[in-house]
Amino acid sequence: MSIIIKTEDQIKKMRIVGKLASQVLVMIEPFVKVGISTKELDKICHDFICKEQKAIPAPLNYKGFPKSICTSVNNVVCHGIPDSRILEDGDILNIDITVKKDGYHGDTSKMFIVGNASLESKKICSASQIAMYEGIKILKPGIQLGDIGYVIQQYAESNKYSIVRDYCGHGIGKAFHEPPMVLHYGKINTGEVIKKGMIFTIEPMINAGKKETLVLEDNWTVVTKDMSLSAQWEHTILITEDGYEILTLRDEEVGWEEII
Ligand code: MF3
Ligand code: CO
Ligand code: CO
Repeated sequence: MSIIIKTEDQIKKMRIVGKLASQVLVMIEPFVKVGISTKELDKICHDFICKEQKAIPAPLNYKGFPKSICTSVNNVVCHGIPDSRILEDGDILNIDITVKKDGYHGDTSKMFIVGNASLESKKICSASQIAMYEGIKILKPGIQLGDIGYVIQQYAESNKYSIVRDYCGHGIGKAFHEPPMVLHYGKINTGEVIKKGMIFTIEPMINAGKKETLVLEDNWTVVTKDMSLSAQWEHTILITEDGYEILTLRDEEVGWEEII
């Protein structure tokens, strides 16, 4: 299957669902505090998506995933299952939201810092956000997929972090995951040429220690093999005539180009 070029009608739907996904992250922020469990966060997001947004939380029952959001704490790289774990002072947490509406998907995640985190924890959160933005800011028709991976890898490794290889960004639309695979490492001038109308995610996972990961017995939770901290941010992005449009951008991010 090759990379789908979205029609204007599909792009309209992707804009709507991208906004919905971004609004879930905004809504949940004040609840992310010491003392709340990740399953309580899941319930709040689930109800908001179903009742307020009249949409579907795409992770629920996706290949058997049991909850509506992913919550990945500290050394969890991605796909953490919300459970009775209570957030503690100094935890760092990724919440990954995928909303489906009118047949289309919007996928976005960010890091939250719980209470007073160490400088080390704050630094990996911000480094993974900037790594994502580095990949976004070069986007336009004519560049190649490998260019995205190259700039992300350069940024992460020059800051002494490792890039997770086992999971990647992806095309998105009618399907939650569709071609292309968007690797967060790679070589310049390699890979498929990016064209107007493509929509895909960029979602680098970076580790404080080594890049290797393990999947726990629940068959979902991905952790760093060396138990080091991991952080991830994700956006869904449309390629436009002369650049890109971040479909899951939040108001708090407006002006990000100036701060990186
Ligand atoms: N949202 C994740 C991604 O960015 C995928 C989660 S799959 C799930 O691609 F089943 F764990 F929800
Ligand atoms: Co994704
Ligand atoms: Co996601």
